Amino acid sequence: MIESINKKSSINIMKNVLLFLKPFKGKIAVIFISIIIISGLEAYLPVMQKIAIDDFILRGSTQGINLFLMKYMGISMSLLILIYVFISFGGKVEMSLVYSLREKAFEKLQYQSFSYFDTNADGWIMARMTSDITKIGEIVAWGFVDMIWSIGFLSGILIMMFKLNYKLALVLIFLLPILIAISIYFQTKILRTQRDVRKINSLISGAYNEGILGAKTSKVLVNEEKNTHAFENLTSRMNRTSVRAAMITALYLPMIIGLNSIGLVAVLGIGNNFILNEIISIGTLVLFINYTIMFFDPIKEFSRVFSEMQSAHASFERVLELIHSDLEIKDSKEIIEKYGDICEKKIHNWEKIDGHVEFKNVNFGYHNGEPILENFNLKISSGETIALVGETGSGKSTIVNLACRFYEPTEGSVLIDGIDYRERSQSWLHNNLGYVLQTPHLFSGSIKDNISYGRREAAFEEIIGAAKLVKAHDFIVKFTHGYDTEVGEGGNNLSTGQKQLISFARAILKNPSIFILDEATSSIDAESEKVIQDATDILLHGRTSFIIAHRLSTIINADRILVIKDGKILEEGGHSFLMGKKGAYFTLYTRQFTQDEESKLMS
Ligand SMILES: Nc1ncnc2c1ncn2[C@@H]1O[C@H](COP(=O)(O)OP(=O)(O)O)[C@@H](O)[C@H]1O
Ligand SMILES: [Mg+2]
Repeated sequence: MIESINKKSSINIMKNVLLFLKPFKGKIAVIFISIIIISGLEAYLPVMQKIAIDDFILRGSTQGINLFLMKYMGISMSLLILIYVFISFGGKVEMSLVYSLREKAFEKLQYQSFSYFDTNADGWIMARMTSDITKIGEIVAWGFVDMIWSIGFLSGILIMMFKLNYKLALVLIFLLPILIAISIYFQTKILRTQRDVRKINSLISGAYNEGILGAKTSKVLVNEEKNTHAFENLTSRMNRTSVRAAMITALYLPMIIGLNSIGLVAVLGIGNNFILNEIISIGTLVLFINYTIMFFDPIKEFSRVFSEMQSAHASFERVLELIHSDLEIKDSKEIIEKYGDICEKKIHNWEKIDGHVEFKNVNFGYHNGEPILENFNLKISSGETIALVGETGSGKSTIVNLACRFYEPTEGSVLIDGIDYRERSQSWLHNNLGYVLQTPHLFSGSIKDNISYGRREAAFEEIIGAAKLVKAHDFIVKFTHGYDTEVGEGGNNLSTGQKQLISFARAILKNPSIFILDEATSSIDAESEKVIQDATDILLHGRTSFIIAHRLSTIINADRILVIKDGKILEEGGHSFLMGKKGAYFTLYTRQFTQDEESKLMS
């Protein structure tokens, strides 16, 4: 059962690989032909020795030796050229394949929705993009080359032997299946133990790291003995596995050499008899001896590649899974036709967004199934500022993410300007969204690039204008390179407040119809908070906005405040209305207010 599934997926994988190799079929043909010729020539070279012995040395003649030498030179030169050709073409195929796989995978990731990244950890995706794809490139470009070579070389040797003397050839044919079986068995074992060694090794370095970094904690918690014990366990496992790996390698070679010797003895014994009876020449016997010794090389290569391909099977599967994964949020064909997709936006067909948002009987749960929103209804008129407050985990971000179509309702619908957003394209909505997150993300590059990230075509004056609006201009021009200052990886050269202001400038430059602030002010000191508060007021003006704020003082001016609890609206209304009601909002607000006063008094 398992076998047949495996076979099916192998065929499936082969089909896919062939599909990816299609653009390089010219180069692959060249490689294939060169390798076939190379293996043929290599199998033929020992025949030249036989000719030298039989026709020149034993006969003591030099007649025709010039032609012979020229032929020898010709073969050697052809080999050199062909080897150059296949190595350079193989390298090209490897690189192009790796490139196209990465491009495909990357493109797929660009289309994937938030929920995809919930269920697939970043580390998992990174490993697919790097080590798995590299492995596939290697195996496809060089593994197949080695396989073709070993098959070609072995066939060449066998053909020559049968041509010269089939009885002697039969002696070696007997050894062939035994050699192949032993080689595949051992090569697979060797590969597996090597992989175990690597795995345990990374566990050891992990434990080592933890042991050092967590040394103080262990001491305080009196856990040293347990840690040491666990570490000892790992190292002794490592010891056992390494010894096993060495043992297997140590067994494999003598076995092969032993089989080879049996072959040699047989060839020598029978061959001697044949020479005495003048059935074969001395040169032919020498040739057979050479072939017997060479026999082992292609078989070793073949079984090595064979076992490597089996282990690469998993890499193939994982990468194909990534490339062929379904998009969880997808625009229909008709919609892409009209509105375009991420890469090709048909902006001329896009309706302008007024900013009227409505949740209509929305049900929603994440992958793990638990319902977060049930029959959720909410109407927001265009230009309205809505604040969402409530405890962590109450569902504020979920509501906002649904409004942005980062996730879609499982039941019910979200209407933008009265129409279900699934009847328009994702990029239509996303192009009109401004989103500032709690931890702003900047991309490595200049400040200028980061501000214009959502609108590449913006003029420099517009970028400066946006920065001035959110009061980021002053600190930007203080840098020696001004707007060309590199922000570093993830914006690490800037403070959190500065990063936040730049992401505000980025949002405002896009001039979005709908604006979202998800706890954007929670990780900032009081002074930056004031600046950001002003920036927010400017940003919100004239657009539909959702603000999720930790600090309730920042949302007093919102048109409507929603208190969210367990995915439901507990209370709603303006600040003074809710304060007058003396309900949940009143409690939240007064609690925070007294806490603030207390901490002010303390400091
Ligand atoms: N990506 C996710 N995958 C699974 N569950 C999630 C995810 N994001 C949030 N949740 C769960 O949904 C509920 C609401 O979370 P969220 O909307 O982030 O709350 P809030 O923003 O109010 O803190 C929580 O129980 C949380 O654990
Ligand atoms: Mg949240």
